[in-house]
Amino acid sequence: MKTRRRIYLDHAATTPVDPRVVEAMAPYWNEIYGNSASLHEFGRQAARALEEARAQVAAELNCHPTEIVFTSCGTESDNLALRGIAWAARKAGRGHHIITTAIEHHAVSHTAEQLRDLFGFEVTFLPVDRYGMVDPDDVRAALRKETILISVMYANNEVGTIQPIAEIGRIAREHQIPFHTDAVQAGGTLDLDVQALNVDLLALSAHKFYGPKGVGVLYVRRGIKLVPALTGGGHERGHRPGTVNVAGIVGLATALRLTRTNREEENARLRRLRDRLIEGLLERIPDIQLTGHPTQRLPHNASFAIRGVDGEALLLGLDLEGIAASTGSACTTGDPEPSFVLRAMGLPYEWGVGGLRFTFGHQNREEDVDAVLEVLPPLVERLREMSPIGAPGGS
Ligand SMILES: Cc1ncc(COP(=O)(O)O)c(C=O)c1O
Repeated sequence: MKTRRRIYLDHAATTPVDPRVVEAMAPYWNEIYGNSASLHEFGRQAARALEEARAQVAAELNCHPTEIVFTSCGTESDNLALRGIAWAARKAGRGHHIITTAIEHHAVSHTAEQLRDLFGFEVTFLPVDRYGMVDPDDVRAALRKETILISVMYANNEVGTIQPIAEIGRIAREHQIPFHTDAVQAGGTLDLDVQALNVDLLALSAHKFYGPKGVGVLYVRRGIKLVPALTGGGHERGHRPGTVNVAGIVGLATALRLTRTNREEENARLRRLRDRLIEGLLERIPDIQLTGHPTQRLPHNASFAIRGVDGEALLLGLDLEGIAASTGSACTTGDPEPSFVLRAMGLPYEWGVGGLRFTFGHQNREEDVDAVLEVLPPLVERLREMSPIGAPGGS
């Protein structure tokens, strides 16, 4: 086996922290360490940094700083959005119906299911087409007079499909129903202008765009009522108690600003890498298909279904060659199961178990694509020969 440098193609899972972000965070560990809620100068220093970061994030999202709530991660932001709206509706004696989709991240879907199973809410999980796309007409058709929330992810983490958020937002607005979008996967690459997107709530997570892990944002449009999902002090205007992670928030704001500065050029570069990989693999591997939308997809996402092989076996084979990718499949060794996203898109079993996702980032170059093109086709061939799932033409 040739030795080559390790290649990271899993930026949808997480990204390395940009050194400029590390630098911006540095003073907030042991120089400016006050509690931002304290009244003395140590606290006021921290509070100034916090409010500066809030203003920066608000500028990127085109909203008012008081509409920004900092959280501990994307998962918490989604939980706060769904539970906060649902409980506020319950408190006000309003409806009990939530609309979401069949392909949400578990941060949304499991929260919706818990609201259904433990709190008596009704949830509609909208279907998607074979590209993983939600039809806005389905949103319209699912509306009831009891609907209190619509939650549709901006871009899917597995297959990269970008949803028609602004259009769904228009429908939500026509009916005055709060609209949340999980924008965690979109944070580094897509437009986050909450006015143009017609959203009332939007979740982000810093570690997906070269910021630190363990810090997130929930944008909450003025006038939207939330019951906090955590109870405690009055931090974050009562939306999210807990001593504020000033260093992390400074990191998040810096990372967001940096990803926005050369976004168009970087997206174009990522698209070139993505398309080179897609074209190369479609040419070299029989019975492979691109999953997700052919054009409405994240610029850095190339995801595939490969017939008759186990995605996890592919992942481990690639890892042995120093290439880090991801499978969309929630399988355990020896018991492959298609991911719920691929199932919702209607992929048959023998395709769905071979889900494989490559997501590019700042450090990737063409030679990384070439390494995958060299390694993956013979690996697929070997696995198909050995695979219990069956070679092409099998069941
Ligand atoms: C679409 C989506 N939503 C939410 C999350 C959760 O974010 P975090 O890891 O910050 O909790 C992820 C993380 O993978 C994601 O991809």
